Amino acid sequence: MGYVGPALIRHLRAAMPQAYLAGLDTGYFAKMVTGSTLLPEARLNVQYFGDARSLPEGVLAGFDAVICLAAISNDPIGNRFEQVTLDINAEAAIELARRAKAAGVRRFVFASSCSVYGFAEDGARSEQSPVGPLTAYARSKVAAEQGLAALAADDFVITCHRFATACGFSERLRLDLVLNDFVAGALTSGKISILSDGTPWRPLINVADMALALEWSATRPAEAGGTYLVVNTGADAWNYQVRELADAVAAALPGTTVTVNPDAPPDKRSYRVDFTLYRQLAPNHQPRHTLASTIEGLVQGLQGMGFADAHYRESELIRLHVVSKLLEGGEVDGALYVQ
Ligand SMILES: NC(=O)c1ccc[n+]([C@@H]2O[C@H](COP(=O)([O-])OP(=O)(O)OC[C@H]3O[C@@H](n4cnc5c(N)ncnc54)[C@H](O)[C@@H]3O)[C@@H](O)[C@H]2O)c1
Repeated sequence: MGYVGPALIRHLRAAMPQAYLAGLDTGYFAKMVTGSTLLPEARLNVQYFGDARSLPEGVLAGFDAVICLAAISNDPIGNRFEQVTLDINAEAAIELARRAKAAGVRRFVFASSCSVYGFAEDGARSEQSPVGPLTAYARSKVAAEQGLAALAADDFVITCHRFATACGFSERLRLDLVLNDFVAGALTSGKISILSDGTPWRPLINVADMALALEWSATRPAEAGGTYLVVNTGADAWNYQVRELADAVAAALPGTTVTVNPDAPPDKRSYRVDFTLYRQLAPNHQPRHTLASTIEGLVQGLQGMGFADAHYRESELIRLHVVSKLLEGGEVDGALYVQ
């Protein structure tokens, strides 16, 4: 019930019309549906509300695959909730895999992140490159990958997708992602303000293409990549510098001005990533969207919502604001357990 989930549900329902699909989520962002009248989860056979840290007994029985998207999923929340980030993103994910394996599930898919590379400007990083996580979020993904490795077996095939930064329209849109933020700025104020000097490298992937990759790994045979696979997931052509992204949005929305912050301290999170392995392993599940089609999808989606909130950086389309509101309202406790 996050940003990627609705795209995944839509994709799986279309790709496997007969499949029994179940979701589980704490529901932190359940209300924040964008551009859709139907709740995206209505396409599932069942939606559970629950916490991956205290999974009810029996919910995993009978499933062929488990796809773990549940996470505290960006740096600003991760910085504020470091221990919770490690507990949910690593400990709970590993325990989920352990329980899935015990329940006879045969495939486990984990949404990791290219942010594990940290700073990588001197050439694109492959899966063999050393990791250098710079934030609690990135460290949690490294810890999860390490813990999952020990569980892989012939009858329990694990895939960790090191996804590029997500972008694109979703039925639970986020505007705390670089491209989405730029399109929202351009549409509402005619301005894109880059918070850095614009030089950091940031590979991107459209959420719909993430869904395509997740379908591949939820069904892949062990021969395609082995029983434990860590794979950079995106496309080489999608390695962009932040300034290029802003310029592409400005080109799509003429009249937009782009400002950089020349005094910003150098952004340490800058990485170029090599997606060769994913191209070799999953030739039929390669990203299909282009930067232009993704920007176009965002513009259409936001316009379709009648979006005009120039103060969106303080709105409920920013994850940290939603979590802060839940906390202030006493709807979650300090460890983000729903009350
Ligand atoms: N968005 C990106 O740029 C990106 C890039 C790479 C990887 N990923 C990973 O992909 C996954 C999905 O990302 P997203 O952008 O949809 O994130 P999101 O924050 O929009 O969604 C995460 C979902 O997990 C749920 N959740 C959080 N803690 C939970 C818990 N303890 N138990 C059950 N549910 C819980 C939240 O309610 C939310 O619906 C995450 O693991 C994220 O780290 C995202």
